[in-house]
Amino acid sequence: MRKKLFMTVMAAALAVSMCACGSSGGDAGSEGNTGAAQQAASGSSVANKDKPLVWFNRQPSNSSTGELDMAALNFNDNTYYVGFDANQGAELQGTMIKEYIEKNIDTIDRNGDGVIGYVLAIGDIGHNDSIARTRGVRNALGTAVETDGAVNSNPVGTNTDGSATAVKDGEIEVNGKTYVVRELASQEMKNSAGATWDAATAGNAIGTWASSFGDQIDVVASNNDGMGMSMFNAWSKDNKVPTFGYDANSDAVAAIAEGYGGTISQHADVQAYLTLRVLRNALDGVDIDTGIGTADEAGNALQEGVDYVYNADERSYYALNLAVTAENYQDFTDSTKIYEPVSAQLDEGSHATKNVWLNIYNAADNFLSSTYQPLLEQYDDLLNLNVEYIGGDGQTESNITNRLGNPGAYDAFAINMVKTDNAASYTTLLQ
Ligand code: BGC
Repeated sequence: MRKKLFMTVMAAALAVSMCACGSSGGDAGSEGNTGAAQQAASGSSVANKDKPLVWFNRQPSNSSTGELDMAALNFNDNTYYVGFDANQGAELQGTMIKEYIEKNIDTIDRNGDGVIGYVLAIGDIGHNDSIARTRGVRNALGTAVETDGAVNSNPVGTNTDGSATAVKDGEIEVNGKTYVVRELASQEMKNSAGATWDAATAGNAIGTWASSFGDQIDVVASNNDGMGMSMFNAWSKDNKVPTFGYDANSDAVAAIAEGYGGTISQHADVQAYLTLRVLRNALDGVDIDTGIGTADEAGNALQEGVDYVYNADERSYYALNLAVTAENYQDFTDSTKIYEPVSAQLDEGSHATKNVWLNIYNAADNFLSSTYQPLLEQYDDLLNLNVEYIGGDGQTESNITNRLGNPGAYDAFAINMVKTDNAASYTTLLQ
């Protein structure tokens, strides 16, 4: 059954790519050796396998080892990844939590047992960004344990007695006094249908944890704001327990005024721009750095090393992160506001409208749907890109790939996989 469906899809893809080549008319002879960008610039049709492709938010990689999927990242000459610097952000998140504890040491230990207990919501145990965040919190709080040369990022389940092997008890010294720090519980927030980073699951988990060891919980940490806010609203707000997330979604930033501990901005305004900008540049056949490290004719430019870094070997752009706390949250209240240095409209005359197919792995993901997509929708106008947005169910790749039935109708693709291992589900359709 599955095989039959696969064959049908393949046959359809083949037919589309053949007809794309066939329509190239008089240029057909030279077509084979011409780059996709030049073809696009010259207005001739391009085979799907040569069209610009950007992976975003989920980097093609092995979900067990984290090793990058270089075949997917080098799918063609115009393939890139856009994400953010996971390690820099993870370290920021861990440091933000540690500094909060140090600053509030007189009140943080709610039951006065000398143990600062925290619980941790894990997004997806196979997603490298999620793994980095878990490690960042454990490193900063001294609870990290190395397994096979890397910090263990496995969930512990419950660990109220401190006996878990994936973590150890840490220590924090403030004003000459030493406090024990314990990861009381952690869990991957995956719902029964298989969706990860699941906010509702996190809201239920905090209820379960609080009812059995609530007075021991002094801090709540989360791999993202979606889950963090769900726990905050379900329990920690009323119980005045600082809760820390990641993403700087507008609702989480607003909650800082009500006791949410803090969050990290992964500069979604820069990422959303880069996602579409690399496609625009490839379609225009211009240097990929245009409007990125080098100002374009409209004045759009980012600052390398401040806003983002580019790793050529990994074909990857990584936005840089910023900590958002009670001290500076006023500057981050609208997560859907585009970044001023890259907000100038491109001229239609020299940047003709192109069609882009773009998917979001889970239409219910808080960060992607409430922050990232609204940003993309503003940049697509500025960059003259006509983007078709497809929202997945967060569970199966086929729910999304089934809606890429006619790749020949698009000039470029932007892909957000359900699982980081699954790049081939998409590239097969473009071959
Ligand atoms: C975000 C999460 C989001 C995940 C989806 C992460 O970068 O921080 O909020 O759920 O991407 O892949």
